[in-house]
Amino acid sequence: MTKRYNVAVIGTGDMGNRHIAGWRAIGHNVVSVTDVDTARAERVAAAFNIPSIYRDYTVAVADPAVDIVSICLPLAFHAPVTISAAENGKHILCEKPLARSFREAAEMEAAVTAASVQFGLGLQRNLAEGVGLLRRLAAEGAFGHPMVFNSDLLQEVRPKRAMHDRHGNNGPLTDAGCHYYMLWQTVFRSKPKSVYAQGRILATGRPEVAHLNQLAIDTAVVTVEFESGDVATMTVSWGLAAGNQMRGRPDRIFGPSGGAEGNVNGDMTLYRGELVEIVNLEPKDLHQVEFAMFIDALEAGTAPPSGFTSGKEMLALTLAIFESIDTGVVVPVAYEQG
Ligand SMILES: NC(=O)c1ccc[n+]([C@@H]2O[C@H](COP(=O)([O-])OP(=O)(O)OC[C@H]3O[C@@H](n4cnc5c(N)ncnc54)[C@H](O)[C@@H]3O)[C@@H](O)[C@H]2O)c1
Repeated sequence: MTKRYNVAVIGTGDMGNRHIAGWRAIGHNVVSVTDVDTARAERVAAAFNIPSIYRDYTVAVADPAVDIVSICLPLAFHAPVTISAAENGKHILCEKPLARSFREAAEMEAAVTAASVQFGLGLQRNLAEGVGLLRRLAAEGAFGHPMVFNSDLLQEVRPKRAMHDRHGNNGPLTDAGCHYYMLWQTVFRSKPKSVYAQGRILATGRPEVAHLNQLAIDTAVVTVEFESGDVATMTVSWGLAAGNQMRGRPDRIFGPSGGAEGNVNGDMTLYRGELVEIVNLEPKDLHQVEFAMFIDALEAGTAPPSGFTSGKEMLALTLAIFESIDTGVVVPVAYEQG
């Protein structure tokens, strides 16, 4: 590492805490935290001994000492904070998902390009060793062709109620789905071609979300066909009853020659013919991996692991999923949008 970079972390919720810890663990300085919840920002600043606290992100990103702005805010703020940071000449590491619309994504990209700064998107889960392993095995034909990838995510109504707000993080298909969408296309080495999805709202009438004007779809079954002919499916719900202990099954991929299942940042079981092999993958702090790669890219002037291209691809699939839910038909994934 040639330089200790100064980072402003915007948002001090779950991801804000992870970003602070991650940047520090790889040797950089977090010089300020910003949150509209001042009490929370003060608690976090005290816990990590961070010198400056702001309520207004425009003040934080204008600090001449800041090199990198780490955006850990709800989705609606990804575009305005990215644009403000770029206009102040700062490099940006923004949490996923990229944006709510292609228009927002285009405005963000234009600001970043005009300022000649780096932009990284927080799809750290895709950097897990298991993802690389599955991609390599798939490319070598270990599973055969076509392949089927099943992902499963079941949870109770989320404690963070904004996750259920149609106009906030918009439920799991927008907020959490992008990790899976990225995983599938990485392993298949192919892009989604079309999607069919059914969506439901299980949280209707639940007191925890009664204050929200419009609930997001919290439960869905999604089937995605890839250009390669491979297929991915996801069963997702954030609508289980309070206290329900049921959880999603491990990720699983199979084809005519073999399969694998498990946790891509943990242990995986490989199936080849009659052979069963357990592969122990040492879990890593993927935020640290992601930030280190971001710094390497910044210093080399190359692209970070994920950015606008990945973010717009995830957005294209997300929008197609919602369109299929609305229309009840198979929807082609449209990558070029006005
Ligand atoms: N990469 C991952 O694995 C991962 C995991 C969880 C969440 N996320 C993403 O991270 C982002 C943040 O999620 P989170 O779980 O940390 O949310 P959170 O609710 O825990 O924290 C968000 C914080 O932002 C603050 N905030 C909201 N609007 C603000 C504004 N205008 N200015 C300043 N502060 C503001 C809130 O007060 C809150 O403290 C989301 O985009 C989410 O999708 C990524």
